[in-house]
This record gives sequence, C-alpha cells and structure tokens, in this order.
Amino acid sequence: MLIRPMRDDDIGAARALTHEALQRSRAATRPAALPAPPSGPPTPDWSGRWERRAKHLLRHDADGCWVAEADGGSRGGSNVVGVAMSLRREKLWGLSAYFVHPQAQSAGVGAALLDAALGYSQGCLRGIIISTADPRAARRYRLAGFTLHPTIRIAGSVDRSALPVVDGVRTGGPGDQDLCDSVDRRVRGAAHGVDHEFLCAEYGLLVSDTLTGSGYCFVDPSGSPVMLAATSRKIAQRLLWGALAVSPQGADVHIDYLTADQEWAVDVALAAGLSLRTEGYLCLRHMRPPATYLPSGAFL
Ligand SMILES: CC(C)(COP(=O)(O)OP(=O)(O)OC[C@H]1O[C@@H](n2cnc3c(N)ncnc32)[C@H](O)[C@@H]1OP(=O)(O)O)[C@@H](O)C(=O)NCCC(=O)NCCS
Repeated sequence: MLIRPMRDDDIGAARALTHEALQRSRAATRPAALPAPPSGPPTPDWSGRWERRAKHLLRHDADGCWVAEADGGSRGGSNVVGVAMSLRREKLWGLSAYFVHPQAQSAGVGAALLDAALGYSQGCLRGIIISTADPRAARRYRLAGFTLHPTIRIAGSVDRSALPVVDGVRTGGPGDQDLCDSVDRRVRGAAHGVDHEFLCAEYGLLVSDTLTGSGYCFVDPSGSPVMLAATSRKIAQRLLWGALAVSPQGADVHIDYLTADQEWAVDVALAAGLSLRTEGYLCLRHMRPPATYLPSGAFL
C-alpha cells in the first residue's frame, strides 16, 4: 500500500470510495455525518459538489490531500482505496474528508492517511474535525490528540407558523467576503478565506451587519444552514431563523454538529418543531467549541 499526494485524476475514484464508505456506515449505524449522500446510487448533485469541493481543496491545499493506493489495480481499474483531504486556513488546520473503502477498512490504511494529512497541520495552533459515529474514526482522532465533543444533530420539517419576523438580515454575495472573514476570526480564530468564494458559488448567503454585531449564514435550498458564524447569540439566532424561513413547505431540514455550547441553536430548532438526536463528535485540538458558530462538514 502506498500513501501518496492526491492528484486531480484521483477525484473520481476518491468520490466513489467515499460514497461506498458512507453507504456502508449508514447501514451499519445511523445516517452518516459529513455531506452525507442520499441513500442509493450517488445523485448528480452530491457527486458534482463533492468533486468541485475536491478540486477546490487540491487547488488551495495540495499538500493536505492524500490518497492510499493498493498494490495492483484490483478495484475495477482504480487502486485508490482511501482518501484524506485537509485544509489550512490561517493558523487553523481542518480535516475535510477521511474515508477508506469498506473492503480495505480496519487494516491500518486510515492511520497512515491521517498521519500524512496531519503533516499539513505543522505550524497550525489549532485543529478541527467533524467525526462520524464510526468508532474507528473517533479512535484515530483521540489518539491524534483531539478532544471529542459529542454532537447534537437536528432534523425535521419547519413549523412555518412558528417563523418569526426576522429583522436585520439581508441576502449576501461575494462582496461580503471581508465581513465573513472578520466574523470568522472573532468567532473561531481563523478566516475561511477562499472557502467563502466556493460556498458563495454553491449556496445562498444571508448576512446580518448591525450596530450591535454581525454574522453570516450559508444556506442550502432546503433551508439547512451549511455554515453560520455570528458575533453574538442574538445575531446567530436571527440568521438561523432566516435560513429556516428559506425552507420550502415540508422540506427536510438539518442542523448539524452542535455541541452543548450552541443552546441558542437548539432553542431555535425546538421552537421550529425540529427533532434532536446525538451522533458523532466535534473534535478539537487547542480550542473550545466556538459558541456562536455552526461548522461546515467540508470546510469546518
Ligand atoms: C474511519 C476510517 C477512515 C478509518 O480508516 P481504517 O483504515 O478503517 O482505520 P485503521 O485500520 O487505520 O484504524 C482503525 C482503528 O480502530 C480500531 N477498531 C477497529 N474496529 C473497531 C471498533 N469496532 N471499535 C473501536 N475500534 C475499532 C482498530 O484496531 C484501529 O486502531 P489501532 O490502529 O489503534 O489498532 C474508515 O474506517 C472509514 O472509512 N469509515 C467509514 C467512513 C467514516 O466514518 N469516515 C470518517 C469520517 S469523519
């Protein structure tokens, strides 16, 4: 087995093995974390976005992206059996994807891949990973020095009669990147920089910029927040309500990766009629869970 830097022409195989690994873990436990594909064959939406994200990371974080290649081309032409993609934004390192093909799991491939990706964290002060419920992932992350914060997942359809009138929230765009970066620095100690460009092209953006504070929220068409950061709980709640208001009648909404520090979000979710469960971990190194923040599985 060879651990080597990922290349553009590995993206298709990495996407396919990620889908297999997520499907298998969905069957073995409960719905998987991270940008989880719908059950069944990969949809063009999920595959397309996964590949665009991988291209973005290879462009900006080539030294953080690694694949594991098995000896011989046993798997239908491609012998890529594992992938780890990590990113570095200012002094924060994050693990964006970490998957081993089900047929190659529990044989040390994941440990070798994580070591390679962690090499890219050198010089970073802090680290962030969002973990599935897979006990092998949790084991790897704790052994790498991360603190495991159990996470709350929220899902359901929004009770539209509960939606309040939300003041001070507007639609954002690429011109808001400086605002987003400055909120990021205050809330999690590092801007997302180039990731805001990617997110802006893929999702809707809501912004709040008032005398008392500011914040932003990327939102997908179902009304689910993809990433949210705000300088106060009040603004975070406004933005979350703004996202939920986007949700079409009956759409499945999810709010993921909350810890007990995000009660402001739990309270909004309960008022909107959504349901709570626990699954997975927010894994942090040298930092506390940022309170007025909802991380993105892919950009953390
Ligand atoms: C998580 C994952 C990437 C790890 O890769 P892997 O190649 O299976 O991992 P490794 O074999 O290197 O390490 C697994 C560790 O868990 C241990 N382990 C195996 N089964 C276990 C179980 N049921 N419970 C707890 N630990 C277990 C192994 O002994 C090993 O620890 P050790 O090296 O200290 O002995 C891979 O299993 C996977 O793709 N899982 C499904 C997708 C997923 O959840 N990805 C994580 C995204 S956050």
